[in-house]
Amino acid sequence: MKKYEEQYHLSQIQHPYRSTEVFADWLEEYGFIQRSRVLDMACGAGANTLYMANRYKDSQFVGLDINEEFIICGNKQIETECAYNNCCLYKGDWFHPDNKWIGAFDGIISFQTLLMFPDYREALKMLVELQPKWIACSSLFYEGRIEYTNKFRNYYRPSADKEYTDTYYNIHSIPLFQEYMRGLGYPEFRYIPFEIDIDLPKTENLDIGTYTIKTEDGKRIQVSGGLMMPWHFVVAYK
Ligand SMILES: C[S@@+](CC[C@H](N)C(=O)[O-])C[C@H]1O[C@@H](n2cnc3c(N)ncnc32)[C@H](O)[C@@H]1O
Repeated sequence: MKKYEEQYHLSQIQHPYRSTEVFADWLEEYGFIQRSRVLDMACGAGANTLYMANRYKDSQFVGLDINEEFIICGNKQIETECAYNNCCLYKGDWFHPDNKWIGAFDGIISFQTLLMFPDYREALKMLVELQPKWIACSSLFYEGRIEYTNKFRNYYRPSADKEYTDTYYNIHSIPLFQEYMRGLGYPEFRYIPFEIDIDLPKTENLDIGTYTIKTEDGKRIQVSGGLMMPWHFVVAYK
C-alpha cells in the first residue's frame, strides 16, 4: 500500500473521520442503519464498515472494494477490532458485482467515491440492480441544476505507468440526482450538507487532503488541493 493510501485508509480505523460519525448520526435519525443488512460499496480498507459494525451490533455489514490489497489489510484489522463479528470485506467491482449480492442488502452506503466516477448515473444504476430499499452516499453536491465535471492530474501521486494520476472530483446536482433516483424507483429523498464542526489542519505538502478554512460566521469551508469540497449526505429510498 502506498504511503498516502495507508494514511487515508488505515489512520481512519483508529480515528474515524468526523464525516463518518455525522453520516451515521444522520442515517440513524431516520432508522435506516439499525437492525439492517448493509453493503458498504467501495469500502477501501473498511474503516467505515468497521466503525458502523461496532456502532450497530444488531446490523450486518459487508464491504466490497476492487482493490484486493485493501480488502486483505482491512479484514486483518477486523479480526482484532470488530467487537460483534458482524462485518467482513470482499473483493468486488462496483460495475460487475457478483450475483450473490442481489437482494442481499436492505441498504447500501458509499463514502466519498461517487464523485470519482466519470458517470455517476451508471454507478447508481449498478447499485439499484442489487435491489436495496435505500441507497445513501456521501459525495460532492451543488443544490442547483448544475453538474460539474472536475478532472485533475496529480503529480504528487504517480501511477504504475505515468508520473501522475488522473482523478475526478465531480460535483453532482441535488435535484438532478433526486430525479434520477425517482426514475429508478426510489421516490423518497433526503439530503444535508456536511457542515464540519472541527478544524482540519492544512497538509504539510500541497497534495490533496481535506483541510478547513473558518469563515466570518464561524462555519468552515472544506478544501482539498485547489478545490472547495461541498460534501453532502444523500439518501434515496422506497
Ligand atoms: C476515495 S476511496 C474511498 C474509500 C472508503 N469508502 C472511505 O471512505 O474510506 C475510493 C475507493 O473506491 C474503490 N474503487 C474504485 N473503483 C471501484 C470499483 N469499480 N469497484 C469497487 N471499488 C472501487 C477504490 O479502491 C477506493 O478504495
